[in-house]
Amino acid sequence: MKSYIYTATAPSNIAFLKYWGKEDEAEQWPANDSLSMTLDKLCSVTQAQLISAPDHVVHLDDEPIGREHRKGHKIFRHLDFLSEHFSQKSKLSINSRNSFPTGCGIASSASGMAALTIAALAAWFDIENLDAFAESSISPETLANLSRLGSGSAGRSLFEGIVHWRKGTSPQTQEILTVFSRQHWALMDTVVIFSSQEKTVGSTDAHRAAWTSPLFKPRLAGLPNRCAQMMEAIAEKDMSRLGPLLEVETLEMHGVIMSARPAVHYFGEQTSNFLAWIRDRREAINLPVYFTLDAGANVHLIHEQKNHAELMSLLKQYPNIGETLSDHIGGGAFLSKSESRVVS
Ligand code: PMV
Repeated sequence: MKSYIYTATAPSNIAFLKYWGKEDEAEQWPANDSLSMTLDKLCSVTQAQLISAPDHVVHLDDEPIGREHRKGHKIFRHLDFLSEHFSQKSKLSINSRNSFPTGCGIASSASGMAALTIAALAAWFDIENLDAFAESSISPETLANLSRLGSGSAGRSLFEGIVHWRKGTSPQTQEILTVFSRQHWALMDTVVIFSSQEKTVGSTDAHRAAWTSPLFKPRLAGLPNRCAQMMEAIAEKDMSRLGPLLEVETLEMHGVIMSARPAVHYFGEQTSNFLAWIRDRREAINLPVYFTLDAGANVHLIHEQKNHAELMSLLKQYPNIGETLSDHIGGGAFLSKSESRVVS
């Protein structure tokens, strides 16, 4: 009998306006809208294949991952949720790889959960490309909503360009959509790696703690206006307007995290010194490059493609700069189907 492999590729994304805090944890309903840039080459590639076995078999970067494995918990939980939601009893063999090193400050949960959702459903419903999903009444919006139930930011990884996750007025009315195509503006993200250690406090606990920060409610009150301003700056391709908004946004999110109970410090002296340095140097040489950070110590420098070479030579001047990774704005997720050479 012929057996097929369904390969989903989902890029990571970097948030400009951060999803931080949940209004409803069970429904994965965010406290605020978020806005992100989908990346291109920094992605997860996940293959799914139907198998006859008592349970799913999962490999991450060729390493077998069981239900009890630290990294396995979220994956199996999401597979269990999907199989129950779609009444699918067949088990899957899942092989997943990231194109970027673990702990490099690129959100692997975003790309990983998006790719896992697409690959698993493609295998169960025998779907050969993303367009064919719609024919089986699973729209891209449904795929994004299912992905976000695995990890909030994963919902944004399905779509190209600049993506808006709108919270709506209830968990059921939230939506995720592209607001600017990748062709609109040739943006790039250059990640400067300061720590490859895994987070000491996972994002689930930190999202929960956000409500205890005295800065959180004032933040939420100001976000609709910041979101509108960011959209205008992107529409006008105006980096000198977008950049300062990116920085105040990320510093505010970290302010919330650091003033919550329990307080979490995701970055230390090294990152802090670098942020001050990049602000100083870019003014000195008039280079429009601005930082944003996720819940971690690594710095994402957002810039236009035309400034990439100058940024890279500037970074060489920083003592012990370490590893950097650059990527472009990208086109969203992708799916293909191929025949397996191993007959099941
Ligand atoms: O998707 P989660 O639950 O890991 O949360 C990610 C939150 C940030 O990366 C810090 C911000 C964002 O919007 O991606």
